[in-house]
Amino acid sequence: MANDILVSVGKMSAGIASAIIILRIMNLKSWRYFQEYNRLQGKTFVITGANCGIGKELTRQIVTSGGNVVMLCRDTQKGKIAMKEILQKPTPTMGTVTLRRMDLNSFASVENSAKEIIESVPRIDCLINNAGVMMAPFSMTEDGFESHMQSNHLGHALLTHLLLPKIASFGSPQNPTRVVFVSSTLYKRGNIIEDHFKSGAVTPENFDQKFAYSNSKLASLLFARELSNEVKRRGLPVIINSASPGMVYTNLGRHFNMSWYQKLFLLPFFAVFVRAPVEGARIILYAAASEKSLHSNGAFIQSYEEKPIEPKFDSEMCKKVYQLTMDAINKSHS
Ligand SMILES: NC(=O)c1ccc[n+]([C@@H]2O[C@H](COP(=O)([O-])OP(=O)(O)OC[C@H]3O[C@@H](n4cnc5c(N)ncnc54)[C@H](OP(=O)(O)O)[C@@H]3O)[C@@H](O)[C@H]2O)c1
Repeated sequence: MANDILVSVGKMSAGIASAIIILRIMNLKSWRYFQEYNRLQGKTFVITGANCGIGKELTRQIVTSGGNVVMLCRDTQKGKIAMKEILQKPTPTMGTVTLRRMDLNSFASVENSAKEIIESVPRIDCLINNAGVMMAPFSMTEDGFESHMQSNHLGHALLTHLLLPKIASFGSPQNPTRVVFVSSTLYKRGNIIEDHFKSGAVTPENFDQKFAYSNSKLASLLFARELSNEVKRRGLPVIINSASPGMVYTNLGRHFNMSWYQKLFLLPFFAVFVRAPVEGARIILYAAASEKSLHSNGAFIQSYEEKPIEPKFDSEMCKKVYQLTMDAINKSHS
């Protein structure tokens, strides 16, 4: 009897394990759709949050394919370690990599980095606004904003605003330069609250840790949409898209406290659906360099496809977010 039960449990476990392996192999195939690594050669990418996770993997894939990367990291020690690791495995087509300090939570730091980049980097083909935080406890930046809002959205908006003339100067209608905002489907849970764009308005009392990430990702997505319209109106040869890497195993969850049994329970789900940074980075590279994504502009890209955004986030809302953002960054850095 006990033996029969053991045999049944063994068969069931083997069945589940096989199903997980088959589903993962099928997913891996679709996650690896981007293959145009030759298009990275000779191009220069500026990447925020490049010392770990998706940013580091983007850097590795670009540099080992012959592209050049300017890594922007708030902690240069971590940046140096990542850079060393990447350079330790050279390829015949190796590009170059340089490192600069930039903390998105300080507009002064963003301005300094942008100034240095404009003066010293010969060209920019693509800016990848990748850095991000999630579920962090309340903290107010030196500019008076809640840290999710500034690091995930306002800091990137300022960096893009400052680098845009340089990025545009290397584009042409046939060969536009690009800006990619690394986004998340969690934007759907977000809300636009005007106070979040006002220095000093978010306090520990009204801070909502659960929604801070979604709110900032929604703001970033709507801003990117309207910025792409603005760039079209000005006739600049730059395409601007938001792209979600999917669920990726990185340090982003550093503020989650999961018990061992929660992790065990979620293990089969992780095994099927969570990708490694190497696959998450490919989707961002698709938005940053693929020929197939050249027709996308102002889009939200997920799983290598343009996805419509929730209808409630309409063009009026995009315009409003754009204005709130420009007011916030202009007020703080002028
Ligand atoms: N992982 C996922 O499942 C997933 C899903 C959807 C979207 N995303 C997005 O993917 C992007 C990359 O995240 P990841 O998963 O690679 O997470 P990660 O491993 O935690 O990397 C985040 C990077 O952002 C940097 N960063 C955070 N705040 C910063 C600031 N104020 N100034 C400068 N750099 C800052 C971090 O630097 P430190 O190391 O110094 O903290 C780190 O380099 C994020 O925008 C995230 O929202 C991730």
